[in-house]
Amino acid sequence: MILFNEDQRYFLLEGDGFSYLLGLSPQGDPHHLHWGAPLAADPLMNLLVDWRTRSSETSPHVTMEHQRREFPDFGHNDLRAPAYHLEQTDGSRVSEFVYAGHEIVPGKPDFTPLPSSYAEEGDEAQTLKLLLFDRLKNLELELHYSLYPRRNILVRRNVLRNRGGGPLHILKLMSAGLDFPAGDYRLVRFPGGWANERRMQQGPLLQGLTRLESRRGISSHDMNPFAMVTRGEADERRGEVYGFALAYSGNWAMEAEVHRTGWLRFHAGLNDFDFKWRLEPGETFVTPECVMAYSGCGFGPLSRSYHRFARERVARGRWRDRARPTLINNWEATYFDFNQGDILRIAEAGKEAGVETVVLDDGWFGERDGDDRSLGDWFENAKKLPKGLKGLSGDIHALGLKFGLWIEPEMISPRSRLYEAHPDWCLHVPGRERKTSRSQLVLDMSRPEIRDHLLETIGKVLEEAQVDYVKWDMNRSLFEVGNEALPPGRQMELSHRYMLGVYDLMGRFNQRFPHILFEGCAGGGGRFDLGLLSYHPQIWTSDNSDGLDRLFIQYGTSFAYPPIAQGAHIAASPNHITKRGTPLKWRALVALSGNFGLEVDISKWSAGEREEVAGYVRLYKEIRPLVQFGDFHRLESPYDSDRTAWMFVDDRKEEALLFVFQVKPWKKGVKAKPVRLQGLDPAKAYKVQGVKTGFSGKKLMKEGWLPKPFRNPKKPYLCELYRLKSKV
Ligand code: DGJ
Repeated sequence: MILFNEDQRYFLLEGDGFSYLLGLSPQGDPHHLHWGAPLAADPLMNLLVDWRTRSSETSPHVTMEHQRREFPDFGHNDLRAPAYHLEQTDGSRVSEFVYAGHEIVPGKPDFTPLPSSYAEEGDEAQTLKLLLFDRLKNLELELHYSLYPRRNILVRRNVLRNRGGGPLHILKLMSAGLDFPAGDYRLVRFPGGWANERRMQQGPLLQGLTRLESRRGISSHDMNPFAMVTRGEADERRGEVYGFALAYSGNWAMEAEVHRTGWLRFHAGLNDFDFKWRLEPGETFVTPECVMAYSGCGFGPLSRSYHRFARERVARGRWRDRARPTLINNWEATYFDFNQGDILRIAEAGKEAGVETVVLDDGWFGERDGDDRSLGDWFENAKKLPKGLKGLSGDIHALGLKFGLWIEPEMISPRSRLYEAHPDWCLHVPGRERKTSRSQLVLDMSRPEIRDHLLETIGKVLEEAQVDYVKWDMNRSLFEVGNEALPPGRQMELSHRYMLGVYDLMGRFNQRFPHILFEGCAGGGGRFDLGLLSYHPQIWTSDNSDGLDRLFIQYGTSFAYPPIAQGAHIAASPNHITKRGTPLKWRALVALSGNFGLEVDISKWSAGEREEVAGYVRLYKEIRPLVQFGDFHRLESPYDSDRTAWMFVDDRKEEALLFVFQVKPWKKGVKAKPVRLQGLDPAKAYKVQGVKTGFSGKKLMKEGWLPKPFRNPKKPYLCELYRLKSKV
């Protein structure tokens, strides 16, 4: 519920699990008063009295810097980082937006193609549109707060309208911002690199500015656009945690500034680096959205709020609520070196193992025998596929399998027919050398005629080959970002226009092919964010399919993103990237914890191994509803010890899956501790498949359970999956 108290001029946004309170200062500046545990009447009154005293203080020493603000401007006496920075027609950058009215509306406005989470049931969300007005310049800034009271989610974004007589330049406009009260704050972030995504890192926030960002044109492998602030120490079950997840796949930034007072200012939104947007009179600019969540009981509940939200109100379309098929992908098995026969052989072996979809990865088009050519030439390679894609797809469909295809629409190889025909279609700076990365250039997705061409050419392939699944890849960062289409004064708009173009094209593909399941990919997980998930309901988590590294990568990814969204495949051992060997069972259990598939030519494996794999595929089909739609609980972190454990529980707490991974045996003399389970019904009794004794949910959660093999593990890479059922 969102309430406005007219007498005292405050807004109270009340969810089941948190309250968010903001007040209007006598001057009309929105002040941040509280975000955290639900407020009872007395604490609310105390907060208001406190704030009133501070905000009405007239001493010349009390500046705006001594107020906790909601969306701070630039140019007055608050010299902390501003939430926006606007260059006006007369060159001034000083803004003065004050309260000019508000609306509280049911549901949530949509700003597609910018990724927008949505509301479905009548009263599930409410939006406060807080209108601020800069009278001198005739500018309107609308702060949007969409509250999902039962989901513990608050989504913020802003809309700026130029009602003035001249153009305005936006130098910075964040999506969300607030000033936390004094405290001992820590920041949890998810940095990494290619094949090493979303490694969890946490540390104290000290006085000064900490900035997380991507300047790479993609949300990036290097830093994920999701972060958490904790007040003091937090763990899975304890502590106050605040989450910020940007629904954006391009350049983004988050700023955490600890002021000398101990207050913490936090902003999240578009990166202002190399950004400048010209807003003509009458035009509107909308920011990406920031999905915020709060938990008073540690990381676990916060992650589950995000998981459910991403699954149910970010993902869209026919595949949102459907079980995702198991698949076999040829990439790590063949790279570019395959022919029709190889793919059919892999398909047949996949079918024998029980998988449902065969995905033909990179290399099927143009003269693509290596990564240095043919991107953009979206017609099949007749040498590799003499019966054509249509023939191959027909054979695969005849096996009773679905057919999936890899594409990389946003790219162009200098060695391609497309480049010969349209050398100006790539991002480039006129007169400068065009430097490639992975031998490829980037198509200028801001240009509608290029998007139309892609929809037409790739659309034709998807139609003719009756494709059921698409892996949409994107294998490089953006640099030399320029074009001849935009005037010089608008060149700094290009990175954002690129992303808007990508979203537009993805949306048109989804509309034209509603039956196709799209999987996102950017050299593995280089664009793993809520923006992409609103177009592609699942993403290839990482190019690193090594069983041990994947444990860390999937663990880190799970803080914001649900297991159903994480492509997780069994690959060969030793691994193609790390060269490390891990047992098949280990790789399988890691893959069974996500959106399961195979990334290997199992036709070359022994009969015994193929049988083992078939067993995992069968098992996945049985546990799929729980893994893909159940609640996920991290029990033990791979960062804290040599053992990791996580579990899945269904809505009714009747079924659960417990995964335990022991990387190394315990050191001599160290006694193994029981694994403490979560999410069960304390009042229910549970039976663990294959274990004689039953347990009460209360005991499993309070005291824990140490499965026999983990009491004294002798071998490395010991792992088990336990299936729990409540006894009726
Ligand atoms: C990067 C992806 O992450 C891989 O899975 C594979 O599709 C290659 N690109 C193909 O070029």
